[in-house]
Amino acid sequence: MNILVLSGSPRKGGNTELLAEAFAKGATEGQHHVEIVSVRDYKVNPCLGCNACFNTDGVCAQKDDMAAIYEKMSQADMLVIASPVYFYGISAQLKAVIDRLHNPIRDSFPIQKMALLLVGAASLPELFDAILTEYILCLNFFKLEDAGHVLVRKVNNKGDIKNTDALNEAYSLGRSI
Ligand SMILES: Cc1cc2nc3c(=O)[nH]c(=O)nc-3n(C[C@H](O)[C@H](O)[C@H](O)COP(=O)(O)O)c2cc1C
Repeated sequence: MNILVLSGSPRKGGNTELLAEAFAKGATEGQHHVEIVSVRDYKVNPCLGCNACFNTDGVCAQKDDMAAIYEKMSQADMLVIASPVYFYGISAQLKAVIDRLHNPIRDSFPIQKMALLLVGAASLPELFDAILTEYILCLNFFKLEDAGHVLVRKVNNKGDIKNTDALNEAYSLGRSI
């Protein structure tokens, strides 16, 4: 499979990125092709809600780097969403990318499966509840198979995740695809 990982942290070399890389290592060893896209490297504006794309066969009124991400999605069999928890949601940069899927171009993507990788600083049991609800609703909306998730609490500073078992978990999830 072609697996596209959207990595949502603006912090280079942070916990999200390490988790995404561990997943990618496992999936690559399973003979899948994996590309990690760090959304901070792409200038993607929030959706304007103009709905122009619905009258133009998916041509967005905004000319920005989302075109490159649409292109990558058009080649992907699986999508992995990787994000830090920002106030119980995903990062704004990643949310902007997801909102831009309010575009009929999404119907042409071959994506069949999705997985979720999240990191957050708190130990709160409910830390991921809001994102998990959104994730499940999106799985249903896009009719995707759930390939699993890795949820990591109590990681705050860069590299904290190396002191947990989460990188092994993400590697195993990647290997299981
Ligand atoms: C703007 C912002 C909001 C955050 N909100 C939360 C939060 O609601 N809950 C939490 O547990 N951690 C929160 N954090 C902490 C990050 O999730 C945590 O530091 C994470 O490890 C960062 O991932 P990264 O290293 O990939 O950037 C927040 C951090 C920032 C910068």
